Amino acid sequence: MSRLLEARRALAESRSTAVFSGAGLSAESGIATFRGNDGHALWSKFNPLELASVAGFDENPARVIEWYNWRRTELAKARPNAAHTALAKHPGLVQITQNVDGLLERAGCPAAAVLHLHGTIGADRCNAACGHEEAVDLAQPPPLRACPRCGAHLRPAVVWFGEALPPAVWNEAQRIAARLECLIVVGTSATVYPAAGLIEDAVAAGSTVISINTEPSASFAAEHIELVGAASVLLPQLVDGLALATSL
Ligand code: OAD
Repeated sequence: MSRLLEARRALAESRSTAVFSGAGLSAESGIATFRGNDGHALWSKFNPLELASVAGFDENPARVIEWYNWRRTELAKARPNAAHTALAKHPGLVQITQNVDGLLERAGCPAAAVLHLHGTIGADRCNAACGHEEAVDLAQPPPLRACPRCGAHLRPAVVWFGEALPPAVWNEAQRIAARLECLIVVGTSATVYPAAGLIEDAVAAGSTVISINTEPSASFAAEHIELVGAASVLLPQLVDGLALATSL
């Protein structure tokens, strides 16, 4: 039996399935990934400590906002790809994502079914944590500005290195991962913790892990089902025509 058929059979038998995604899910929408050797990966060109940490923001907030606004305008031009669309055909499937781009929702996934572990690039929030948050127009994002409530700087509503994940979202993701029969892992290097720990949580709970990635993983356990190729091609082949849902 091919690996794809084996994976579809596992999904057909699963009473609770969820998806854990990373930047590779959006790569074919033209959104750069963070790691990789294709010459476009963000962290091969930019310094994450300058652009994705509280210390980097405190040192030069305008530089950070300028970089996020460049990413926002790129995102405004992007469209969901066939991988997002394939997932959106299963509205009962919980999407646990590291992506901040909102493309799953734009493809039609119900907002309530998407758990954003790393926040959203589509909003700014108060850097002093006064609680103010506001949506940002991706096509015309505003420059560095003050929080209208407390006067501190506003910053992107994403999670930076060294910051905790949003507790309610993280708790829900962990609760779900510990009860799955199948976890579909798409387009992530699974190197950033604690998010990547969800794969281990699911395995510990006895879940089958099905991975889709353009690169084979040296560390992927032999008992997992690894599908090597582009998400836009493999994900529709994997999930189309199946009845998939996450049992909450
Ligand atoms: P990475 O950039 O680390 O990994 C992307 C993965 O997608 C790699 O394993 C690629 O091989 C794979 N890939 C690329 N194109 C693909 C395609 N078309 N189809 C399938 N797979 C493909 O991205 P993440 O794992 O999401 O954090 O990175 C995790 C976190 O690190 C991000 O959320 C971000 C970053 O720093 C924060 O911003 C907090």
